[in-house]
Amino acid sequence: MKQLSVWAGSAAIAAVCAVATGAQAQGAPKLKVGFMLPYSGTYAALGNNIENGFKLYVAERGGKLGGRELEYFKVDDESDPAKATDNVNKLIKRDQVDVIIGTVHSGVAAGMARVVKDSGTLTIVPNAGVNAVTGAMCAPNIFRSSFSNWQPAYAMGSVMAERGHKKVVTITWGYAGGAEMVDGFKESFTKGGGQVVKDLTLPFPTVEFQALITEIAATKPDAVYTFFAGGGAVKFVKDYAAAGLNKTIPLYGPGFLTDGTLEAQGASASGLMTTLHYADGLTVPKDRAFRTSYTAAYKAPPDVYAVQGYDAAQMLGAGLEAVKGDFGKKKELYAAIEAARIDSPRGVFTISKSHNPVQDIYLRKVDGNENKVVSVAAKALADPARGCSM
Ligand code: BEZ
Repeated sequence: MKQLSVWAGSAAIAAVCAVATGAQAQGAPKLKVGFMLPYSGTYAALGNNIENGFKLYVAERGGKLGGRELEYFKVDDESDPAKATDNVNKLIKRDQVDVIIGTVHSGVAAGMARVVKDSGTLTIVPNAGVNAVTGAMCAPNIFRSSFSNWQPAYAMGSVMAERGHKKVVTITWGYAGGAEMVDGFKESFTKGGGQVVKDLTLPFPTVEFQALITEIAATKPDAVYTFFAGGGAVKFVKDYAAAGLNKTIPLYGPGFLTDGTLEAQGASASGLMTTLHYADGLTVPKDRAFRTSYTAAYKAPPDVYAVQGYDAAQMLGAGLEAVKGDFGKKKELYAAIEAARIDSPRGVFTISKSHNPVQDIYLRKVDGNENKVVSVAAKALADPARGCSM
């Protein structure tokens, strides 16, 4: 029911699409789309918002992409890498989906990518940044609508070095997502003359931060760099402020620290600076329209995860339009996605040869309930795609 206004408002677009779509899609069966996302645990909100964003774009196109109606399947992957193979096989073998949209957690994405590389299932990763998915594990059928872990992290290393920070402590969850967000940061931060004096980790998805916050206070670095997201990010920012460290040791990180979390973090997040491929206050016409329709449909403002879901649908749509809904024409379909310029709420982005977005990374600052854009920290930043040979 929530989506009625979106659907009604999209009637004109749908009519145009129906005319533009050739005979191929007429009478074709529904295209089966499987969401492999976390719908429980610390990343549950991220999974839900990705699905919402994806469905919003499809609703704006009258419920069809390339003239094909879609049928949805879903699996809660619980952000559990140990269950990744079984979960992705539920979609591939049990539900026989044509396309997978997944996932959020880097460790789960790595397991999922191994399976879809073999099965050849078209997969669009709408969040998980694990570098190898568009690096050593790259494949013709795997695309990403979000970022590589290296991108926002590398941008933040340069920002912190330029702001004059010399000695930094890092703190994150001990899994691929956290480790790569720290590695990307270190690469540019040390190049800029900075030094990481201590790396702190705790197991994903635990949130017992107190002992580590005490260790940070005792170490007295110039600043702290952190990667947390979802429920964990809410708790970390609140605990950091409750310990009084927000007054003495500035906290930075990739924007997952404060995206979709500000209402819950309240004043504890005030003034935090982060880097991300999305921000509040962008002067991107597409963003204005997207925010209006997302808020009308879901009664909540969008976040970066909603944008990545929306853009995953745009990427699939670009491929399907090019082949007029004929999903058998894989080579042409993949070539069309690769060549697409995606008119994203984040700003237009292109897709690299290894299938990762080439995009601007913004520096943002928390002001009330917004991550206000401050500047472009890195223009059209492309992941180095180490190890990809396609
Ligand atoms: C990751 O595991 O890649 C990830 C999870 C949440 C936000 C950003 C990245």
